[in-house]
Amino acid sequence: MRKLIIAIDGPVGSGKSTLARRVAALMGYVYIDTGAMYRAVAVKALRSGVSLDAADELTALAGNTRIDLQAQEGGQRVFLDGEDVTTAIRTPEVAQAASKVAVVPGVRQVLVAEQRRAGAQGGVVMEGRDIGSVVFPDADLKIFLTASPEIRAERRWREHQQKGDAIDLPRTLEEIHERDRRDQERTSSPLVRARDAVVVDSTAMEPEEVARLVVLLAKTQAAAGATT
Ligand code: DC
Repeated sequence: MRKLIIAIDGPVGSGKSTLARRVAALMGYVYIDTGAMYRAVAVKALRSGVSLDAADELTALAGNTRIDLQAQEGGQRVFLDGEDVTTAIRTPEVAQAASKVAVVPGVRQVLVAEQRRAGAQGGVVMEGRDIGSVVFPDADLKIFLTASPEIRAERRWREHQQKGDAIDLPRTLEEIHERDRRDQERTSSPLVRARDAVVVDSTAMEPEEVARLVVLLAKTQAAAGATT
């Protein structure tokens, strides 16, 4: 069967990572989390003291950064200039910084080029905010995953709790609103639903149900492609 490019976009906490990882496992595809790349650039900016408003410096920094994503059982490891930052990129501070870094068109240009290289051969499930709209506008299957802000905040808060991050639920909901606003209002590649994306609302669905649905859509698409 043809190896597809599957794009999964949606707001923070909609369940993209869980879905993308599971679909990749079920299809035998490579999973690519593009948010991790923006987070890695943010970590480097924070560490090197570059202002998160300095567009030119951030663009230069992104251009001088090597990000490697290595598949591992059930996910991916993230390397920033050779250092494993898989855990370091998952703090609330880095999440906020990443959404600021992601506003800079020059940074996006650098990372989008990397993402296109990584997915060009197909057989990938790539998740982010602009995969179906900008990175792979011709992706074989585009999913736009949503859920209510309250459910998204609760999911994110549980993740933080498991890791021992000191952040409460109301603050997590505020952060979700802040990041939604920044992701949707930026002028360069805002979070939008591609016209031909399938919208899936995961508010009342179990993760496995969503994954099975997407795999069904993918297999239908691959079979249709094979006969044309
Ligand atoms: O999915 P995430 O929370 O790890 O993403 C971190 C930030 O990066 C998020 O605020 C939006 C941004 N991002 C983006 O602008 N485009 C992508 N393709 C992926 C993430």
